[in-house]
Amino acid sequence: MSIIAGEWANFLIRWVHVIAGIAWIGSSFYFVHLDLSLRKHDKLAAGVGGEAWQVHGGGFYNMVKYMVAPPHLPKELTWFKWEAYATWISGMAMLIVMYYAQADLYLIDRTVLDISPAAAVAISVAGLVLGWVVYDLMCKSPLGRNDALLGAVGFALLVALSYGFTKVFSGRGAYIQIGAMIGTIMVASVAMTIIPNQRKIVDSLLKGETPDPRLGAAGKQRSVHNNYLTLPVVFLMISNHYPLAFASRWNWLIVALVVVIGVTVRHFYNSRHAHKPSPWWTWAVAAAAFLAIVFLSGQPLQKSAAATPADGVQKAAFADVQEIVISRCSMCHAAEPVWDGVGVAPKGVMLETPEQIRQHARAIWLQAVATHAMPPGGNITELSDEDRSVLAAWVQAGAPGP
Ligand code: HEC
Repeated sequence: MSIIAGEWANFLIRWVHVIAGIAWIGSSFYFVHLDLSLRKHDKLAAGVGGEAWQVHGGGFYNMVKYMVAPPHLPKELTWFKWEAYATWISGMAMLIVMYYAQADLYLIDRTVLDISPAAAVAISVAGLVLGWVVYDLMCKSPLGRNDALLGAVGFALLVALSYGFTKVFSGRGAYIQIGAMIGTIMVASVAMTIIPNQRKIVDSLLKGETPDPRLGAAGKQRSVHNNYLTLPVVFLMISNHYPLAFASRWNWLIVALVVVIGVTVRHFYNSRHAHKPSPWWTWAVAAAAFLAIVFLSGQPLQKSAAATPADGVQKAAFADVQEIVISRCSMCHAAEPVWDGVGVAPKGVMLETPEQIRQHARAIWLQAVATHAMPPGGNITELSDEDRSVLAAWVQAGAPGP
């Protein structure tokens, strides 16, 4: 029963997380678009900085933006913050349930660094806190007044962190860590800068004072950063389903390229929505970066690793393959797994009968040959390079049966 409850708790948290994330990203994209599409003309009321007309759901919307404040602050004012908070809370819950509670399977790779689950969790939490502290200080320092330089330094730091974390955690653990760090920065910006500044602005308006324009500018800067970081974060969050992304030797460089893609693609849309000339070059950059990712992901994990059959292994008998899979994989991938902590066959992948093994040949190649995503936890069941070679030869021969 506890296995069933655990699985459903996991699913429920994930469901909430995806929904909250959609709501947050949706409203964030919407407001950046709205802001960029506002137009000025002479008939605008006093204090109005721009106007936009929109049509949706059979009705017309006339949006106006008050740069300072409307003459009378309306009684009902909608704040946008719970989308962000709910995304973070549910994301942290998932991080804890998956990566912290099962650190030896998901977060740690003993072939990368042999650390205890407690140490891994401590490093991860420290990273989340420090990431925000450093980012916040950078934005508030003189560096924060130069957007281009701030972006360049932020990018360099992010790449350095990606490199560092892939030398501490498993590939998928490192990706989730970086994604969670960026996500935490984005939510903390909402909670610690954007919303408090907005409150101060509203307070001074209520008192009839002119709000400090720096408050609004700081909030705006953070919200633009959030907008540019959205696409890379979503990639990192779904990457754990794609071992070619996280389990390759160049996984840290792939993160850097994904940030380049995310930022250039956002730049394209932001320029268009602002009715500036469309920067079509951004698609060339994004496509080149994507092709580079595909190429890098195919590079073997270690120099010795066998993505193709080793010289000695030309043919693989199914009996050998079956023995390898039964002794290295089936303790988890079975109708009734015997591995401690694995309640049901992970992802529904069962590798017990010859039919099941042949049916999953492609997935076995992706997970255990092209990448070393499986066995998890840094080869927890000690699948040898020779055995990976045998699997490679078998798949290359068309995965013949017994
Ligand atoms: C210690 C337990 C364990 C062992 C041993 C193990 N796996 Fe897995 N496997 C998992 C877990 C956990 C997942 C789910 C990962 C996730 O949530 O993305 C998984 C997922 C998979 C998937 C599905 C991936 C997907 O996202 O669809 C395949 C295929 C797979 N493993 C193959 C193998 C092969 C082949 C071996 C042996 C070489 C193996 N596994 C050994 C625990 C194990």
